[in-house]
Amino acid sequence: MFAVIGGSGFSGDELLTEQEALEIETPYGKTSAPIVLGKLCGTPVAILCRHGLSHEYAPHLVPSRANLWALKKVGVEGIYAIGTVGGIAEDLGPGQIAIPDQLIDHTWGREVTFFDGPATGVKHIDMTNPFDETLRQRLIVAAQAQGMPVRDGGVYVCTQGPRLETRAEVEAYRREGGDMIGMTMYPECALARELELPYAGICVSVNHAAGIGESAQKIDFENLRPLLSESVKSVLGVVKVALMCSKGERKK
Ligand code: HPA
Repeated sequence: MFAVIGGSGFSGDELLTEQEALEIETPYGKTSAPIVLGKLCGTPVAILCRHGLSHEYAPHLVPSRANLWALKKVGVEGIYAIGTVGGIAEDLGPGQIAIPDQLIDHTWGREVTFFDGPATGVKHIDMTNPFDETLRQRLIVAAQAQGMPVRDGGVYVCTQGPRLETRAEVEAYRREGGDMIGMTMYPECALARELELPYAGICVSVNHAAGIGESAQKIDFENLRPLLSESVKSVLGVVKVALMCSKGERKK
């Protein structure tokens, strides 16, 4: 069974039939929302709303360890993660979709590992390629199959949030190679790797990052909300097809 972790503007109800919501106790506290198990055209799927059902968790406070631990516990074997981003690359204006292949972490103070003490031992996972290539390709093929323009690859810069970036920060991220900015895929992708769960992200741009294009002077994030839920709906179609292609897959 595969999981979808949804970002802002996503609860998942629209995807599944035969739903059952599970509240799962974890050693790391509560998940951000109940995990919804259900079926998508006959395929079992688990869905988790990253920011909580009423968007109560700011990006730096999302309980990622609890979320990933619980997904593993219910038998998930891979994760498609949806995230909204601000585009640094010119081609990542509002509404555009990207499947990143790299990540730079600019967060701080988050709980980033399951292996941090005498009880667990310390583990140094490989993160050369932070996203799973098979799942990435599946998302790309799914988008193309729907005639949806999609960017194959790009560097996802993860910022701490919840504030947006300054123009100088965005310029610095651009110079270090960043293509898009979001606040949530780290440490999620690293925690998934620690649990040996293949993980790929599908990012939808809701704005150009600060200082770029229509965001040259200001980003009015509150007014982006309608675009945000519309964009998330459009990526759901892509994730749906990717999930169908993942049916019955076993972890290698
Ligand atoms: N910066 C960081 N995260 C975001 C942005 C942004 O401009 N837009 C959507 N998520």
